[in-house]
Amino acid sequence: MTATLALKQILPEPGWMSPTEAVELGRLAESVQNNRFMPHPPPDSIYVGDGDYRAIGAEFLGHFVRLGRLKRHHRMLDIGCGIGRMAVPLTQYLDSENASYDGVDPVLEGIVWCTQTITPAYPNFRFQRLDIAHPLYNPEGSLPGNQVQFGFADGSFDFISMVSVATHLPPDEIVVYLKEVSRLLAPGGRLFLTAFAIDGRSTGQERLRFQRWREGPGWYAIEEAPLAAAGVDEAFLVEAARDAGLAVETLSRGHWRGIEAEHYQDLLLATKGEGGR
Ligand SMILES: C[S@@+](CC[C@H](N)C(=O)[O-])C[C@H]1O[C@@H](n2cnc3c(N)ncnc32)[C@H](O)[C@@H]1O
Repeated sequence: MTATLALKQILPEPGWMSPTEAVELGRLAESVQNNRFMPHPPPDSIYVGDGDYRAIGAEFLGHFVRLGRLKRHHRMLDIGCGIGRMAVPLTQYLDSENASYDGVDPVLEGIVWCTQTITPAYPNFRFQRLDIAHPLYNPEGSLPGNQVQFGFADGSFDFISMVSVATHLPPDEIVVYLKEVSRLLAPGGRLFLTAFAIDGRSTGQERLRFQRWREGPGWYAIEEAPLAAAGVDEAFLVEAARDAGLAVETLSRGHWRGIEAEHYQDLLLATKGEGGR
């Protein structure tokens, strides 16, 4: 039996939210999506993928809270924060007194837009550019991805997200990031990570066709640019999280596989130790 078979395949019903809270969350996500006063980067500067910037941000606000149990007072780290697609909606959820949001990313333009647009109104939202090398996003970067150390103290965060970031990293970098995530999470803190977790099963309806990368645990869907859409063996991902000291709760399969799901990429939820705020 592989490690993953022991995991819940279906997302748990979030019993921690009351029906009223769930309705309020739905309303918040809807208003965030429809509010034309919410900041939006110039369309030609959005480099984080196709799709509706506002709709995807609103969708993930819902996922963070409902599935990831993000709370209003949490200290959140968003690794690979891009150009604020997650941060903009979160300004309407995270508490301005007790919560904080830190976003890190190698692409300067995204960090500049976020710092100039979001931080002045929400000083508890901070953005940092890290010169991490990536063949597509930051080819001239000075810091190799498998040597990354984030400049935050141990246990600084209650919630860490990596949305559509592990889908651009090779397996050895994912291992390093998971160790950093574990170091940075406070006891009870949670990781919300999306990935293409390859499990050897096929529906025949996949929207991406992955091929193994050089007999290792990595997979690629686009030969000319392997890190444009990168997969990783599901068992490798789960073991790497566990080896890093994270308890993997759920690996929920996404609708990229041609199945019905609430989210496109696969979603890994993991917790650091016990307790938490
Ligand atoms: C598809 S975008 C997703 C951005 C953001 N999470 C979102 O969903 O809007 C991938 C992001 O990962 C960032 N990235 C690339 N390599 C990275 C690395 N080694 N460490 C952290 N972020 C990285 C890119 O600059 C880009 O912003």
